[in-house]
Amino acid sequence: MSSLSSSYGATAHPSLALVKYWGKLPGDGGRPEEANLPATTSIAVTLNRLMSRVTVRAAEHDRVTLDGVEAKVERFTPFFDALRARLASSVRFAVESGNNFPTAAGLASSSSGFAALALACSACASPDRTPLPPTVLSELARVGSGSAARAVFGGFTRWSRGAAAAEQLYPAAHWPELRVVVLKISDASKEITSRDAMERTRLTSPYFAQWVEDNAALALEAERALAERDLERLGTVARHSYLRMFATMLGADPPVLYWLPASVAAIKRCERLRAAGIAAFETMDAGPQVKVLTTEHYLESVLAALAEVGEVFTVCSPGPDAALDPPSNLPPAASPTTPLDPPTKSASR
Ligand code: PMV
Repeated sequence: MSSLSSSYGATAHPSLALVKYWGKLPGDGGRPEEANLPATTSIAVTLNRLMSRVTVRAAEHDRVTLDGVEAKVERFTPFFDALRARLASSVRFAVESGNNFPTAAGLASSSSGFAALALACSACASPDRTPLPPTVLSELARVGSGSAARAVFGGFTRWSRGAAAAEQLYPAAHWPELRVVVLKISDASKEITSRDAMERTRLTSPYFAQWVEDNAALALEAERALAERDLERLGTVARHSYLRMFATMLGADPPVLYWLPASVAAIKRCERLRAAGIAAFETMDAGPQVKVLTTEHYLESVLAALAEVGEVFTVCSPGPDAALDPPSNLPPAASPTTPLDPPTKSASR
């Protein structure tokens, strides 16, 4: 077991789904191997400029601080327990976690947070500081948050219906010209978590079965478009996926609506850009923020148009794998007194 004084740092980048995971397979009886198994296949890109950073130490009790604020540890217990079971370890974890973007506002902070945690905790609990292999990390991260299964990997990923782990389809270098403009519509945390909204949708939306059935064709189409780096095709299928996801949510009881007026303005703005021959394909997740797919070629025009409807928070390219800090020269821990740098706009273009 690691000594109480060692600290283990890791970073990971959020996974933005182009074809969405929304809904779990039934049968989650509290067993980690059944937790968060997806009803739909998702295809995603990992975003380089957004980042979660965690530092982990062995401790007397599990304890988690998120952006300097003590978090409810129960949210993390199934993940910690699954990791301990996997490593046959009894170590408890003291975690400090920070993001360089708003937490729980629909920017997939739980995906990068749990991916980084899986790496750092597995190094902390292993006898020789070696983290588990990526596929096992993906399985464990999934127990914390479904989309975290994908965020372990950089580049482009697939997480198949019912699969325990995600897989990398292509590294980031497959499509370096791809850009994702992240438009911040609101800083507020979401009123309903993706976990609860997803379950409500599965249990009450009359459209849920159709959403799941339709997903298989969308995932295949996205994979083909990705193979050919065809933004028109990928953007079109990404729009179908997020819009159908929201259509299904609107059918829930009570209905789930994450959009704000400025989100709709951004959607309309992208429509006008496409009509003018400029590639701009929006997608949204469990929150009001809008992310717009484009390429380096169209970026200036897209940025100029979107700045009129919201705050361009950052511009991302496909990002790297989650990474553990090197064994020597450990950088200082992310802590309330050492916040992460914001993703500056100039550096992102
Ligand atoms: O990983 P969760 O439980 O936060 O769910 C993520 C859900 C979406 O972001 C809306 C879609 C996705 O595939 O990431």
